[in-house]
Amino acid sequence: MGALSSWPSDSELDGIRNTVAEMARVDVNVVKIVVSPYRICPLGAHIDHQGGTVSAMTINKGIILGFVPSGDSQVLLRSGQFSGEVRFRVDQIQLPKHMQENYPSDTEECKWGSYAKGALYALQRGGNQIKQGITGFICGTEGLDSSGLSSSAAVGIAYLLALESANNLTMSPTENIEYDRLIENEYLGLKNGILDQSAILLSSYGCLTCMDCKTKKHKLIHPPKLEMEKKTEAKTSYKILLAFSGLKQALTTNPGYNRRVTECREAANVLLKASGKELEPILSNVDQQEYEAHKSKLEPELARRAEHYFSENMRVIKGLEAWGSGKFEEFGKLISASGLSSIHNYECGCEPLIQLYEILLKAPGVYGARFSGAGFRGCCVAFVNADYAHEAASFVKNEYLKLQPDLASHLNPESAVVICDAGDCARVIRP
Ligand code: GLA
Repeated sequence: MGALSSWPSDSELDGIRNTVAEMARVDVNVVKIVVSPYRICPLGAHIDHQGGTVSAMTINKGIILGFVPSGDSQVLLRSGQFSGEVRFRVDQIQLPKHMQENYPSDTEECKWGSYAKGALYALQRGGNQIKQGITGFICGTEGLDSSGLSSSAAVGIAYLLALESANNLTMSPTENIEYDRLIENEYLGLKNGILDQSAILLSSYGCLTCMDCKTKKHKLIHPPKLEMEKKTEAKTSYKILLAFSGLKQALTTNPGYNRRVTECREAANVLLKASGKELEPILSNVDQQEYEAHKSKLEPELARRAEHYFSENMRVIKGLEAWGSGKFEEFGKLISASGLSSIHNYECGCEPLIQLYEILLKAPGVYGARFSGAGFRGCCVAFVNADYAHEAASFVKNEYLKLQPDLASHLNPESAVVICDAGDCARVIRP
């Protein structure tokens, strides 16, 4: 595990080890590191919270958290991206954000520390005795936070793994999927599904992770070529392109995400009532036939949300097959169709992201593209023929600059479009 992914490099790891050793005044050789990659979701957008089946993969970029147990209950954290220090004690009981007195007027320091406190909240909620704090330094790949690559789940998981390691707790990925859900749904109040953390905890280099968000069963789909690559060390024939819009806003502060979740539940409610079923109002509780029989009863807006759900589920099934047989063109077309459904049925995009999506579809060698993540900000993701990746990247950069000069001028020209590869799952690297 990890051997095939090119991230993080030894020098990145050494840099983090040295910083933590200085902070904690310990030998560099006792510093542990959590590597927690960002994720993409080629197919299965916005259906995880309805119990749908999603596909995901990690990339070779993400979060690195160096840490040592602090020797007492104190947590002390510094960040490569944010200013200040976060300090709190693990023997303090954490409450969800909306129940805290100073919420929502947290200072910047408090805000970036909230995922660490959220991780403690989740572990406490799970009945674990957390006695040992950590001294740590957290760092994310430059320019890729708040971009729809699920940096928040990557951060949450990094803190969970560090606190568990410091307290000698061994958790399965399934348990950590649930703990991260507690951070997001209960501590932060975002009604999202389990796509992000499942991808981060379960992925394996080069495979597509398929997660049934209702049964919580997953499988890894290998493209047929991977076996050959392992032997020949040949390069993969695709690259992952990330094209950034310059728009950044945390999902937790954007009401659009939770509104759409509520609309899906309203649609499920109508369809379940019409089918005479008394079940939790999520769309995975409605069969395809019941949907076809009763969809005319939905108001136009709710009908579009339901259409996204049912068509996206089908695209995921077809996409897993295409991936498994190495048909990248077919896989790509499904991704672009998923992008279109997000725009027309789920109506979650915004103008700059829709423009980026359209530009990507015209770029040389692109198999398919869509918004990465929720689509309210951040970046679009595309699968591209490896031989055309650089050409496609400069095409997208130039075309976006013409359409959105202001937003594009805020982007670092070096990282406005990033070419990356698949990654592995989150893990602790011991000294
Ligand atoms: C965000 C949420 C996920 C998922 C995606 C959209 O990343 O956190 O749960 O709904 O958006 O697919």
